[in-house]
Amino acid sequence: MYGCEKILYNNKQSTLFGEKTTEQEYLGLVSKQYTFSEAISVLDEVDWDFKDFTTQYLTHRFHSYPARFIPQIPLTFIKLFTDEGDTVLDPFCGCGTTIVESFLNNRNSIGNDFNPLATLISKVKTTLVDETEFRYLNRKLSVMKRYLDLDYKRVEDRAEHLPNRKISKIFNKVIISKLEAIRETLLEVKEEGHDDLYDLGRTALSSTIWALVENGNGVNVDDLFLRKVKSMRERLNETAKVVKNIPDVKTINGDSRKLEVETDSIDLIVTSPPYVNALDYYRAHMYNMLWLGMDFDLFRKHEIGGHSHFIANRFRLLSEYLGDMLRSMMEMNRVLTKDKLCVIVVGNSSLEYELIESHRFFAEMAGHIGFKPIKTIHRNIDKTKKYTSADVGKIDDEYILVMQKTEDAEVTADDDNFISEIVTEQMTDFSEQIKKVQGTSIRGRMPTKERLLKNIDRISDAIETIPQDIKIKV
Ligand SMILES: C[S@@+](CC[C@H](N)C(=O)[O-])C[C@H]1O[C@@H](n2cnc3c(N)ncnc32)[C@H](O)[C@@H]1O
Repeated sequence: MYGCEKILYNNKQSTLFGEKTTEQEYLGLVSKQYTFSEAISVLDEVDWDFKDFTTQYLTHRFHSYPARFIPQIPLTFIKLFTDEGDTVLDPFCGCGTTIVESFLNNRNSIGNDFNPLATLISKVKTTLVDETEFRYLNRKLSVMKRYLDLDYKRVEDRAEHLPNRKISKIFNKVIISKLEAIRETLLEVKEEGHDDLYDLGRTALSSTIWALVENGNGVNVDDLFLRKVKSMRERLNETAKVVKNIPDVKTINGDSRKLEVETDSIDLIVTSPPYVNALDYYRAHMYNMLWLGMDFDLFRKHEIGGHSHFIANRFRLLSEYLGDMLRSMMEMNRVLTKDKLCVIVVGNSSLEYELIESHRFFAEMAGHIGFKPIKTIHRNIDKTKKYTSADVGKIDDEYILVMQKTEDAEVTADDDNFISEIVTEQMTDFSEQIKKVQGTSIRGRMPTKERLLKNIDRISDAIETIPQDIKIKV
């Protein structure tokens, strides 16, 4: 079964309107009224590369986030397959791209992510704040500016507890002292009952820390923080002009394998899950989470596909990943209303020189759990844009898997025997392929034949341990 999925390659760049599709033409296309089957055909008309499209408008720009997808992907499905007042879910919401697009288009939405920083950013991007509140915040921040001098008492404890990494050196005493002053001011804002401003301030603080880690210590911390707050205020004011009837937005800091979402309550899912072995979000966000008092060890333990799991045999990480994704897809099936769409965006990964085509594994899982794969769309990633999926590895393209819920899954996501059975089937198929051809993802220097053949043994070892590896860690 593995490998029988049909893929639609994007060849629309120069065919739809005679030349490259403009943003206006694209919006015209997806904004019309269609029947379900017409809307499915419109997917073939879209130029999925969205080359040169604006992607950082309104609140999308609040905070960098690795491997986020471009807003036009969720926007296309929201426009074509939902009506105002419907509810859209992203179980791996990251910095909230799907949630923001739902908000801007008057759809209710739920954003779930295990990373508490992700749900914080998503909440702040979709929470309008009154001008009187911003005036109060400005008064607090002007007082803060008077107390930004170096205060050694503030610094010592934080400096001692920074992770043992080279990058920690960026956080010198002056910088730590300023970050602590900002943090303390924000705590006062919370104590004085301004919760939304507190969250907005923490997002601005986190974005400042991100800039610091990215650029080294050439950053003027307080200046950057204040500029960030100002720009968030302007963007929220612009957003308020676009969103007339404020839709419901719920953010849940939870596990995609056990969604805290009502059964049969969702009209559309658009999501991009983590890639196997591609990127550790906990590592990327370690300093932000530290300053915001978030538990990154708990996140590391439950992060799907994370580098830090199964270092000795990476194919055990693959079984774990497939089990986690199967559970997550079963949960997506449970919460989705019958006949509605579930859209999963994912790129290929590489494990020990072998190509992992996740979308093929997912399309094959779909048939066992009440989903019908409708089509898979291939798109190129614009690698010149910062923080697209391209930065999670050697990834230049991705696949959009469109599935329809045709029935309820017969088993639940906590059924370890079922998960183990499906993952064993998939890993056995994968092993058969690797026995025929090895080194399917080699791009640079060839490893020795011996090294590649070892993968066959590693995969059979991984198959042996599937029943224990797919269990959710406690
Ligand atoms: C590719 S990113 C999603 C990016 C998102 N589409 C955006 O535009 O920002 C994958 C997300 O999965 C989250 N994640 C990893 N393990 C998870 C789990 N067990 N439950 C829920 N979310 C998880 C990560 O924190 C990360 O935010």
